[in-house]
Amino acid sequence: MINIKNKKVLMRVDFNLPIVRGKVQDDFRVRKVLPSIKKLNKQGGKLILISHLNVEGRYPSLEKVAAFIRKRYLKNLIFVKDLTGPKAKNAVLNLESGGMVLLENLRKYRGEEGNAPSFAKKLAKLADIYINEAFSASHRPHASIVGVPKYLPSCFGELFKKEIKNLSRAFRPPHPFLLILGGKKIKTKLPLIEKFLNKADFIAIGGKLVSEFKAEKNPPEKIILPVDAIAKNNIIYDLGQKSTDKIIELAQGSKFVLWNGPLGWIEGGFEKGTKKLARALARSDKKIIVGGGDTVGYLDKLGLLPRFSFVSTGGGAMLEFLAKETLPGIEAIVKSNIKNQNAK
Ligand code: 3PG
Repeated sequence: MINIKNKKVLMRVDFNLPIVRGKVQDDFRVRKVLPSIKKLNKQGGKLILISHLNVEGRYPSLEKVAAFIRKRYLKNLIFVKDLTGPKAKNAVLNLESGGMVLLENLRKYRGEEGNAPSFAKKLAKLADIYINEAFSASHRPHASIVGVPKYLPSCFGELFKKEIKNLSRAFRPPHPFLLILGGKKIKTKLPLIEKFLNKADFIAIGGKLVSEFKAEKNPPEKIILPVDAIAKNNIIYDLGQKSTDKIIELAQGSKFVLWNGPLGWIEGGFEKGTKKLARALARSDKKIIVGGGDTVGYLDKLGLLPRFSFVSTGGGAMLEFLAKETLPGIEAIVKSNIKNQNAK
């Protein structure tokens, strides 16, 4: 355990919250990282929080997100509209033990996505220690994720460690193991199907992914495709009752269930299948792990999140971690630790 009293701690968080017409839709990620922030605060660390915010490809200021978080959760959070310039440096200099500042949206600066060493060095210079508490952004090889650990003593945050521990259960799963995959981002889900074809006992497919398999003549037996659906012009909008019930039945007979992605187009109101599955899983006493931005946001709206064994903050990061068993952000911390060990 590192002693952080009076130390300047650069903490990469993921405050990339879904925002529609200026309003935060879901703050699940903030709630999950709060205990970690409060703990470091209590230990007397000077917290420098950094995050990106991506609203449909635009990178607005984090000012409104900061105001939202301050109002709801962290009364002493200061926001500074600067990242590595004089205003930011000054704010850091004036931080008291137990104080915290959120700096400006990382992606407003070119060095972040390009992982420019000069930019990573500037970020590192702000602090004494780096903590990665942004599992959900750690599939991005950006400066704040993979660059900074080269220049500072670095470690994973507590939430990050929980993500690794819980998601890693899928690599040595208890059987029967059911994987449920839905949603629209086909490209990120296909590697997962390949990876888990051996490990899972059943892989149930919903959402847009179904269309990928419709053309296949002989999909492997353990891939469970819908037998009925609400469809129009060959596009599946939701699973039918029989197909949803089949997935629920498989879940009831499983020891471990991993679910990512809604079964239908829930934003368009086609939510019957997803809702029925969500309620059935929430009632069950099985080990169930869920993740994916849309799925988690939806379960949160239904008030069902506390009923699951573990809810991942990751969308793309969860999928990449499951497919590759690592992430660029994990590798960066591991390498940084090896370097520091060797230097001792
Ligand atoms: C996410 O929302 O999945 C993470 O915050 C990563 O965001 P990005 O897709 O903008 O990199």
